Amino acid sequence: MSTLTSSLLDIKKIRLQFPVLHQQVNGKPLIYFDNAATNQKPKQVIEALTHYYQHDNANIHRGIHTLAERATRAFEETRLAMQHFINARATAEIIFTRGVTESINLVASSYGRAFLKEGDEIILSALEHHSNIVPWQLIAQEKKATIHVIPVFDSGELDLDAYRKLLSTKTKIVSVNHASNSLGTINPVKEIIRLAHQAGAIVLIDGAQAAAHIEIDVQDLDCDFYCISSHKMYGPTGAGILYGKKEILDEMPPYMGGGEMISDVTFARTTFNELPYKFEAGTPNIADVIALHEAVQFIDSLGKENIAAHESELLEYAAENLATIPSVKLIGTAKEKVAVQSFNIEGIHPFDVGQLLDAQGIAVRTGHHCTQPLMDRFGIEGTVRASFSVYNTKEEIDNLVKCLRKLTQLSYGK
Ligand code: ALA
Repeated sequence: MSTLTSSLLDIKKIRLQFPVLHQQVNGKPLIYFDNAATNQKPKQVIEALTHYYQHDNANIHRGIHTLAERATRAFEETRLAMQHFINARATAEIIFTRGVTESINLVASSYGRAFLKEGDEIILSALEHHSNIVPWQLIAQEKKATIHVIPVFDSGELDLDAYRKLLSTKTKIVSVNHASNSLGTINPVKEIIRLAHQAGAIVLIDGAQAAAHIEIDVQDLDCDFYCISSHKMYGPTGAGILYGKKEILDEMPPYMGGGEMISDVTFARTTFNELPYKFEAGTPNIADVIALHEAVQFIDSLGKENIAAHESELLEYAAENLATIPSVKLIGTAKEKVAVQSFNIEGIHPFDVGQLLDAQGIAVRTGHHCTQPLMDRFGIEGTVRASFSVYNTKEEIDNLVKCLRKLTQLSYGK
């Protein structure tokens, strides 16, 4: 039986939709395992970008001419698609940003500046990306608030008992990821949110690594904010959303001033536009937002549960086979994971492993993955990270394992 897939999806056919996959890198067929950094784009996303610039390019929400109306309609259709994608109550709760980093900075800056005060506490987790640490440090410093961190077990799972102990009436914000970019751990966010609400805190979920893999229902989760980057869900770079509960967004001051976010301006005073436009100053990333709609449709056409099933199969296969190489140590072995496998090879720097794999046409990420505190927790400088997407195959994993085995044999004769 072919090991291409045993899932319900026709992976061969799906691969044909991704032009970038069909090339040689360093004389070998490209194997792209850097999907947690950014995944590849299907043809329809790429074509939507060209179509927009060839036929509809115009500024939005401003003009009354035909092109402006077409561009505005397409832009707002993506907002509606994103509302459905995460089951938000209204399009007013979907704010377009450049991606998760900007979304978190928006909340830290606007909500934090308005509502944090001296002595308040913010809880993050040891699994966070720098983008879910640094914005909070900036506002905590300004407001004299304190940051606490939920510790992580060796498996990569969060210590929920420790979290319960950290929560108190001083806790104002809890901000954690839905899935870890370095270790793949899927966090029990519904429980994390429930406990935070019991303590009277609001919760932001960084959904960067979840959006393409896990069903997201913000009403069921009851999170106060949820952040997504387009480029990690088959869409273009430079676009994403911040979901926020309307009643909270309404209370927050604007993040940036400029066109579009106002309702009336005089030199004496300015009144602000309604949601979501209050948070969308200036000309947005129109083309990329429009093309994001195609990415949503791509995911919907395959079914997220089918994507997740295929990726889980790949993850299990990779973990099993990597573990058969004697000098390989897997890092991140949580029970619930997205398809990210970090590992190290004894005695070989992750960077060297990455370079040697690249010479074989295999793209992985190496280093600290913008999670330096997590690497410190594990006492390592970094890892080699292979992350899988719907278009990857078991044959590609076989190739990775073969290359690594050869590499370790050359290094140790093992
Ligand atoms: N956050 C991205 C990653 O994990 C860039 O690689």
